[in-house]
Amino acid sequence: MFEGMGAVAEELKLIGEAPPSPAGPAAPEDLSLPEPPVIPLSRGIQVLRFNQRQIEFVFKARRKLGEVFTMRGYHDADVFTSHPDHVKSLFTASPDDAPSLTAESPLRPIVGPNSVLTANGPRHMRQRKMLLPPFHGEAIERYAEMISAATEREIDKWQVGKAFALAPRMQAITLDVIMAGIFGIEGKPQVGTPEHGLRTAVRSLVAASTWPIAQWAELMNIGSDEPVGPTKAGLAILDRPTYAVIAKRRGETDLGDRRDILSLLMQATTEDGEHLTDQELRDELLTLVLAGHETTANSLAWTWERLVRTPHAYERLHDAVATGGETATDEVERVITEGMRSRPVIPVIGRRVKKPWRLGEYVVPAETPVLMSILLLHHREDVYPDPFAFRPERWEGHKPGTYEWIPFGGGTRRCLGAALAMAEQRVVLEAMARRLELEADDPEPERAVHRNVTMIPSRGARVVIRSKN
Ligand code: HEM
Repeated sequence: MFEGMGAVAEELKLIGEAPPSPAGPAAPEDLSLPEPPVIPLSRGIQVLRFNQRQIEFVFKARRKLGEVFTMRGYHDADVFTSHPDHVKSLFTASPDDAPSLTAESPLRPIVGPNSVLTANGPRHMRQRKMLLPPFHGEAIERYAEMISAATEREIDKWQVGKAFALAPRMQAITLDVIMAGIFGIEGKPQVGTPEHGLRTAVRSLVAASTWPIAQWAELMNIGSDEPVGPTKAGLAILDRPTYAVIAKRRGETDLGDRRDILSLLMQATTEDGEHLTDQELRDELLTLVLAGHETTANSLAWTWERLVRTPHAYERLHDAVATGGETATDEVERVITEGMRSRPVIPVIGRRVKKPWRLGEYVVPAETPVLMSILLLHHREDVYPDPFAFRPERWEGHKPGTYEWIPFGGGTRRCLGAALAMAEQRVVLEAMARRLELEADDPEPERAVHRNVTMIPSRGARVVIRSKN
C-alpha cells in the first residue's frame, strides 16, 4: 500500500488543510442525520482482515465509504474517523463525555485496570498528575547525556558490512533509557540483582511477543480483566523481579535524594494521604516500561526504514548533521516528525462517546466506540499532499498541527512519555547519521505488521552498515 506512490512536482505545497467538518455532542437537530455507512462484510471476515491486513483494510474502507465508516468487529460497531475536526471534538471533550478506550486495551490484562493507561475518570487524572512532573520536558533534559551514552555504547558494537535488524538494537537503547529513568538503573545492572532479573525478563518477554503463539495469547486475553494462558505465565516471570525491585527500594533510606520515577512514586501520596501499594506501583511501572520502550524503538526503526529508501531525505540529513548546529537540530526534528507521520507506531486510538455525537454528515448513538485512525489522518491528501512519499522538507516552516499530527494522541490522554520519546529519537537519530553510512539490505520497502496495539516494520528495519566512525 505504501510503496511507490511517488514523486510529485516540486512546486506542490506539502502541508494543506482539511475542509471544516462539524463535530461534537449532537444538537437536537443533528439527531436526524444518518449513521455512518457500514463496511459490507460479515463480522468474522472484518475481524480477520483487520487483524491480518489492517492497513489495506482501512484505506480501502475510506476509499469506498468516505472518511467516516463503521466496522463490525470487536464491538457491535466501531466507527472510524480521520478528520482533524472530529479528532479535535474528541480530544477537547470532557473525559466524562468521551472516556478513553485504553481501559479496554489489550494491555489491560497485563498492567491491570488501575494504571494511568487503563484507568478512566478521577483515578486516571490523579495518577496522571502524579506522573506528569518527572516526564516534563525540563525533567527529561537531564536524561540527554545518559541517552547519548547508551547510544554510543550500542553503536560501538555494530559490525560493518553485515545485514542486521535495527529494531532490536533500538530496543536495547530504549530499554536502557527506561530502566535508568524509571528505576534509576544505569548501564547493565549486575548479574544476580533484582534489577538485572527485571531487565532480562522484559527483554525476553518482548522478544517472545513476536512469536506466533503470542498472537493467540493476545486473542485469548481479549475481554478479560485477568491474564490467561501464555500471558499469565509470562507475567509471572516479570512480576517476580518487579516486586523484588520494589521491596529492595522500600528498604532504602535515600529515597528523598533519588530522582528516578520509582522513588518519586513511592513518596507520592493520594489526596487522602495514602501511599501507593506494591500492586499499584507494579501496575504503574509495568505500564511505563511496556508503553515506553518498544514504541520508541520501532518509531526509530521505521524512520530509518524510510530514510534508507529515500535518497534525497537521507542525503539532506547527512549533510545537515555534518554541518551541525541549528541546521542539524532542525533537520533531525523534521525527519522525526515525518517518520512519525508516515509510520505512526500506534495507528489507531479511541474514545467511547457517552452522548450522541456528530461526525460531519453523520451522527452516532451514545456508547459508540469512535476510533481515530492516526494512519488515515496522516495520509490525507488535503492535509499532507503526496502523503505516501517520505518528505521531511514538508515541515520546513511548519509546526505539526495539534489535531493533524497525532502520533502521541492528544487531550487529557496524550502520551505521557512524548517528551522522553522525542528526546531519545533526536539523540539516537543524530548519532547514527553522524557515525554511520547505512543502506537497506533490500530495496523493497518493509511491510507493516501488527503486534498488540502497535504497527511495526515486518523485518525489523534491516540495514547494512557501509562505513562507521
Ligand atoms: C515514539 C514513541 C511513543 C509513541 C508513538 C507513543 C504513543 C502513545 C499514544 C498514541 C498514546 C495515547 C493513547 C490514547 O489516547 O488512547 C500514548 C499514551 C501513553 N504513553 Fe506513549 N508513546 C510513545 C512513547 C512513550 C514513552 C517513552 C512512555 C513512557 C515512558 C509512554 C507512556 C505512555 C503512557 C503512560 C500513556 C497513557 C497516558 C494517559 O492515558 O494519560 N509512551 N502513547
